[in-house]
Amino acid sequence: MDTSATEQSPKVTLLADYQQPAYLVDEALLQFDLDSAKTRVVSTLTMRKNPQGPEADCILDGEALTLVSLKLDGKKLEGSQFQRTTSQLLIPNLPDKFELEIITEIEPDQNTALEGLYYSGSILCTQCEAEGFRRITYYPDRPDVMSVFTVTIVADREKWPVMLSNGNMEDQGVFDDGRHWVRWHDPHPKPSYLFALVAGDLHVQQDSFTTQSGREVALRIYVDPENKHKCDHALTSLKQAMKWDEDTYGREYDLDVFMIVAVNDFNMGAMENKGLNIFNAACVLATPETATDDDFYTIQSIVAHEYFHNWSGNRVTCRDWFQLSLKEGFTVMRDQSFSADLNSAAVQRIDDVNGLRSMQFAEDAGPMAHPVRPDSYIEISNFYTVTIYEKGAEVVRMINTLVGDEEFRKGTDLYFDRHDGQAVTTDDFVKAIEDANAVDLSQFKRWYEQAGTPELTIDTNYDPIEHRFTLTVSQACPATPGQTTKQPFHIPLAVGLLDKSGTSLDMQLEGEAEPHHGDTRILSVTEASQTFEFINVSSEPLASVLRGFSAPVKLNYDLSNHQLAFLMVNDKDSFNRWDAGQKLIINILLELVADIQQNNQLVLSSLLVNQFERILTDKKLDPALVAKMLTLPTENYLAAQMTTPDVDAIHQAREFLKRNIAVSLKGLFNQTYEKLSIRKAYDFNADDMAMRSLKNVCLSYLVASGDPMQLQRCLRQMKQADNMTELLAGLRLMVDQSGLERENALRSFYEQWKQDRQVVDKWLAVQAASTLPDTLIRVKGLMKHEAFSIKNPNNVRALIGMFCRNNPVNFHAKDGSGYRFLVEQILVLDKLNPQVAARMLGALNSWRRYDEQRQQLMKQALESIAEQQDLSADVYEIVTKYLAAE
Ligand code: BES
Ligand code: ZN
Repeated sequence: MDTSATEQSPKVTLLADYQQPAYLVDEALLQFDLDSAKTRVVSTLTMRKNPQGPEADCILDGEALTLVSLKLDGKKLEGSQFQRTTSQLLIPNLPDKFELEIITEIEPDQNTALEGLYYSGSILCTQCEAEGFRRITYYPDRPDVMSVFTVTIVADREKWPVMLSNGNMEDQGVFDDGRHWVRWHDPHPKPSYLFALVAGDLHVQQDSFTTQSGREVALRIYVDPENKHKCDHALTSLKQAMKWDEDTYGREYDLDVFMIVAVNDFNMGAMENKGLNIFNAACVLATPETATDDDFYTIQSIVAHEYFHNWSGNRVTCRDWFQLSLKEGFTVMRDQSFSADLNSAAVQRIDDVNGLRSMQFAEDAGPMAHPVRPDSYIEISNFYTVTIYEKGAEVVRMINTLVGDEEFRKGTDLYFDRHDGQAVTTDDFVKAIEDANAVDLSQFKRWYEQAGTPELTIDTNYDPIEHRFTLTVSQACPATPGQTTKQPFHIPLAVGLLDKSGTSLDMQLEGEAEPHHGDTRILSVTEASQTFEFINVSSEPLASVLRGFSAPVKLNYDLSNHQLAFLMVNDKDSFNRWDAGQKLIINILLELVADIQQNNQLVLSSLLVNQFERILTDKKLDPALVAKMLTLPTENYLAAQMTTPDVDAIHQAREFLKRNIAVSLKGLFNQTYEKLSIRKAYDFNADDMAMRSLKNVCLSYLVASGDPMQLQRCLRQMKQADNMTELLAGLRLMVDQSGLERENALRSFYEQWKQDRQVVDKWLAVQAASTLPDTLIRVKGLMKHEAFSIKNPNNVRALIGMFCRNNPVNFHAKDGSGYRFLVEQILVLDKLNPQVAARMLGALNSWRRYDEQRQQLMKQALESIAEQQDLSADVYEIVTKYLAAE
């Protein structure tokens, strides 16, 4: 069979076409005869007609499979008794109940797409979400077909001593030909996308957890033996997550064992397969010497995220892939609140919002904009987006804000209880919250249906005679592809009123008998334009709005730089303090950009310097927050604030501001740096992390001051560091300074760490992010380095991804060299790994926003991809949507 047959233009799947499955699978017995070159899969399916399903033939999905044989109720089917295409197997005239035996063969070591069963290093592993199971065997590969799986694995004992699958291990044995076998059984019915299998010569790190009802669960992390010292943090994180989900959501784990496996080749971060999570090694392995604070932090949250899916995803799963945010949005919201509870809640919120604004807002404003619940797709892999994840999380968070914490918990209890063992929709989720609390969220549901970022405009007025304060809120949402007009959203708007001294004022709305006490209250905005009248307001207040970023919207709220500076030091809400500071910095930077464009003399704002000084010397402020407040917005985020981004002027303006702040406050940065340089052993906790982050921010300013002595300090920090956080911070600063010291630092770093993949990826990424003008040449050179393989997604993301997405001055070089480089890489990658190729295209998402010349170059780049024959559906979908008329 020809599995690479040229496809016509790929098929569009529509939510409106959803139909229940025609046939169900009650039981799936899978037997694997495992080897990396050829694996034979015997699948025995107990199937029946779905009484609620449509009258239709039984269709099984299957891709890149060699069909060996097919039996119906024990009788072999001849070729004339079924029909086969490159992606489906159709069996007509089936009885209401039957057993199907399907034997297929697959070639794991030829699988560079890393979907289905593949070979990574010396490990055989699977990745089935969303549609990878069909590359293992013929099956109704859709999430609303849930079945009980029993998996037998047979393989050479020497080569594959450890063999894992979902659920509990039932039995195992040895054959006398050097092979052995093991049988796993998962009692929980599940869709095929949660199936997993792993085999290899793996080290296991063990621990245990006793659940709230007193059951003991064995916890195991499987890694390559060379990584056995890197498991502790993930195990600690896992136990924290298990405890938190019991305490916060009343959710207990439901099998005797919970396993995590680390693999080096993985398209995403990690995967929640039932009882057998598979992780990208970079998202689970850590020691203080090899991983930064950010890595420790991310690992804690990813381990939690995948664990939380056991309820929000596995026990209750998605009906179809349009409902992806049902599990991902909710689970991201859950992992974000877990991280907020375990670390600094303010810092967590700042980071989440930063991510949302810089990535999701751009997606929502671009050619791939789609609702949290999309209504069509070509390739589902392209919809694992920041909209589904991060905006989806914000939507669930808003529901929580609108109904209140206790009410939200009542709602999720009902949701889990009502839908346990089912495949459901985002409507079912909202309905459960509504039913548990007798609230009406019908207008709120527009957040799932309408794409685009709403813009809120705030107008205020104070009447000093009547002591009335009027807050007018208007909302509008720009058109997005396929959605020209939008209905008003239901928006929770958190507000506080401050008087001149920064004290909170009571908030009493017209018609209310009592004032609301407390710093913040939530206003419910539902109209296109709406006015809130606050009475008994004794003096003119300053309103702090959208506290804690209570909704994923853009805010038009005209505050002067002085008002922003006031909020930066006085707001009661930590998030809004940070946000006011960022807005002030952005105002100043955009003025500098305009001055650069007009060849004006650049001057430093003393207002900002004064506020920075106050923040640096504020003893009451959490150092983690100080570090965040002193961090300038990224060049990408600044670009998003301009009608036509000017990458060079932005870079220049940011450098100017940083250098001048550094020069003005050098003494203070110096002093703070020294104060924080106490030598103590590394520990991952919020306080120590905060100190290291502030210390590194100070160092970055000191280096930016241009004083050559500060480079020596940077080198000293690298030399003395006993942890990757301080070492890498130093190296990052060095790579933007040309000269011998830079080359030496890079060389010795590599020599020290070349055995460690996670660290080598950092080494690649740091170089790809360098703003020096020869970076592209260096990146190309690094692609030939022993440390790089185009087949390894982590290498690709570290080098190519970092250059194209986080190095705007170089990627957007006026001669188009960055764009041409990206095209070359995408064409190579598309043949190997379409998912990774399609992700790289994201670097061109905002191409229409740039100046004429760059637009033209980016358009040519996209066209040269679009005109290729045999593009994957992944790349085809994105490239055609990017090029589609505005
Ligand atoms: N289910 C996804 C992972 C996934 C989806 C892997 C499709 C492969 C194909 C998982 O739960 C997930 O969301 N992982 C995130 C990390 C998470 C912390 C947001 C990821 O892999 O980026
Ligand atoms: Zn997830």
